[in-house]
Amino acid sequence: MRDPGGKLVLFVSILFCVSGDENDIAGEHSLELTQSSNLARQELVQETCNRLSLKWSLEDLPPSLLEHILVDDERKLLYCYVPKVACTNWKRILMILEGKWNDTDVLSVPASLAHSPGMFRNLSTVSKEERDVMLENYHKMIIVRNPFERLLSAYRNKLEGDLPSAKYFQDRVGRRIIKAFRENPSNESLEYGHDVTFKEFALFLTNDSKELADIVNNEHWQPVTTLCHPCLIRYTLVGKYETLLDDSLLALHTINASHIQFPRLAHTSGTSEKLRKYFSQLDLPLIRKLYKLYKYDYKIFNYDLDNIVGYDLG
Ligand SMILES: *[C@@H]1O[C@H](CO)[C@@H](O)[C@H](O)[C@H]1NC(C)=O
Ligand SMILES: *[C@@H]1O[C@H](CO)[C@@H](O)[C@H](O)[C@H]1NC(C)=O
Ligand SMILES: *[C@@H]1O[C@H](CO)[C@@H](O)[C@H](O)[C@H]1NC(C)=O
Ligand SMILES: *[C@@H]1O[C@H](CO)[C@@H](O)[C@H](O)[C@H]1NC(C)=O
Ligand SMILES: *[C@@H]1O[C@H](CO)[C@@H](O)[C@H](O)[C@H]1NC(C)=O
Repeated sequence: MRDPGGKLVLFVSILFCVSGDENDIAGEHSLELTQSSNLARQELVQETCNRLSLKWSLEDLPPSLLEHILVDDERKLLYCYVPKVACTNWKRILMILEGKWNDTDVLSVPASLAHSPGMFRNLSTVSKEERDVMLENYHKMIIVRNPFERLLSAYRNKLEGDLPSAKYFQDRVGRRIIKAFRENPSNESLEYGHDVTFKEFALFLTNDSKELADIVNNEHWQPVTTLCHPCLIRYTLVGKYETLLDDSLLALHTINASHIQFPRLAHTSGTSEKLRKYFSQLDLPLIRKLYKLYKYDYKIFNYDLDNIVGYDLG
């Protein structure tokens, strides 16, 4: 129904072609190609959801479960942000577009500001009537990532890392993980929670005791399916971290914000090696339990476990 923007696609393709830098072009598809893989992803989500035949509907959800979906009325955009999947840059972009930051250089927006509470309107406070109108008419964007890669990224960033935000997590979460899962912890570990192993993190995530529920249910490692409800909301822009730049260019084009330059990632190398290194610390039953937590993310967004165990656990 929407104008696929044929003319603009051509125009943008030409722009890329004359921009000169061969290296930049090499990794980018035309918007048309990106749009067709976007449509294929939407279809796959739909098919998988139909197969899972979930019983509940959006009306059954408490509104608080919609708070990850940010609302931008001017661009008619709903964006469900997923931590560890480029959400800082996309929040920065929304700030610029909404006039909450003056510089158009995306990276000039402080990350902490982009994440500050109350920065964006979200769907949890929108009335049902208004929400239905939005869901019908707005672009709906989600960007996903291989679930175990996202998990490892969260672990490395929040529990293993040295950053100020890691200190906060180590203090709030790390200490409790060590207390619950380490035999004979040192006083230092108990006090700082700074050396949680990946295995302890996995034991923590797969533990269903009520005592830990408050920190297990954290947006940094909650499944995308829990945060964004892809079977209840028909996302129209389904991006993947693996094709982040292309998908972001398509999204920017779709919301008429092509003047924004999406930041190029410093290429992270050796991701699959890192995955194998960390996951080799877990035995297969634990990997299975972990997989179960993210099963719907795997299925709905068409990921598999090949890169971890060499075959799909299914
Ligand atoms: C959603 O909006 C409400 C009301 O403004 C706010 O209290 C809440 O923190 C927001 N949630 C998120 C995740 O931004
Ligand atoms: C942006 O710049 C204008 C004009 O200089 C200023 O009035 C406004 O307060 C600035 N807005 C922000 C969010 O910094
Ligand atoms: C959860 O963790 C607690 C505390 O370490 C432990 O006693 C319990 O056996 C664990 N439960 C499961 C299902 O792993
Ligand atoms: C650890 O803390 C306990 C209780 O505070 C104390 O008795 C013990 O000596 C401490 N051990 C070390 C190695 O500091
Ligand atoms: C797109 O943005 C430009 C300015 O950035 C504006 O002139 C134009 O009207 C916008 N088009 C739509 C369809 O919103």
